[in-house]
Amino acid sequence: MRKLLVIAVSIFTLVACTSKTETTEPKEENPTQISQEQNKPSQEAGCIKDSTGKGLKVLLINGSPRKNGNTYLALMEAAKQLEQNGIASELLQIGTEPAQGCIACNHCKKTGRCVFEDDLYNRAYNLMSECDAIIVGSPTYYGQPNGTLLCLIQRLCYSASNLMQNKPAAAVAVCRRGGATAVYQTLLMPFQMLNMPIVTSQYWNIVYGRDEGEAALDEEGLQTMRTMANNMAWMLKKIHNDTETPIREKEHKVTNFIK
Ligand SMILES: Cc1cc2nc3c(=O)[nH]c(=O)nc-3n(C[C@H](O)[C@H](O)[C@H](O)COP(=O)(O)O)c2cc1C
Repeated sequence: MRKLLVIAVSIFTLVACTSKTETTEPKEENPTQISQEQNKPSQEAGCIKDSTGKGLKVLLINGSPRKNGNTYLALMEAAKQLEQNGIASELLQIGTEPAQGCIACNHCKKTGRCVFEDDLYNRAYNLMSECDAIIVGSPTYYGQPNGTLLCLIQRLCYSASNLMQNKPAAAVAVCRRGGATAVYQTLLMPFQMLNMPIVTSQYWNIVYGRDEGEAALDEEGLQTMRTMANNMAWMLKKIHNDTETPIREKEHKVTNFIK
């Protein structure tokens, strides 16, 4: 009887508290020395729930074409720490396909979706609607974020601003030597005009490394990731304990100086 009870409780816990850091990409074999399995968070996540009973989840976007590179390592460090806090995450890989930028057609203002319904955009949009926060990471390319990532983020923010409002956001920049602060600031810019609380850390969210895997040696950088994740978990718990969202003025004023 006791044995039966233990089994029943275990099944219930498994169902009620699904352990997840899902990866929507990549599906192919991992060619690098750092395997995704090695870096997957090991403990249960998704136990912390919102007012509807849904487990809280953070969207992680790896803005590097190197799917298991240093940006991936930095994001996984944050994911593991989120999981320690009972919060799940899902990774979206920017990949290596050509990117579509925003063409300012304003189609999304009428439909709520970008006119280009490519796979990457659709996955990002759907994940943003189901996730409660976002962490975007990018390698530093000539002192700038990866252009592919910027194409996606700009289209996502323009079309899905309603899904992003009030959700905590953090940026992570990875570099060999310099330019990461510019990347960090650039990544934060759209979030700062979508009423998204910015999650900070003990330092700017920067991790150092050049070749794939080198970021694992940047102890301070990885600690910065863990602190950021703890801060994000703390903020999410605070927000979802109190289901009220901040009051916003109904009319969004637009002041264009050139008529
Ligand atoms: C096109 C290109 C430009 C780069 N520019 C910079 C740079 O301006 N500053 C820097 O410190 N590292 C630069 N790097 C190095 C990468 O930022 C570094 O290797 C980083 O770890 C890559 O992250 P990933 O492993 O996630 O792809 C550059 C790399 C590439 C491929």
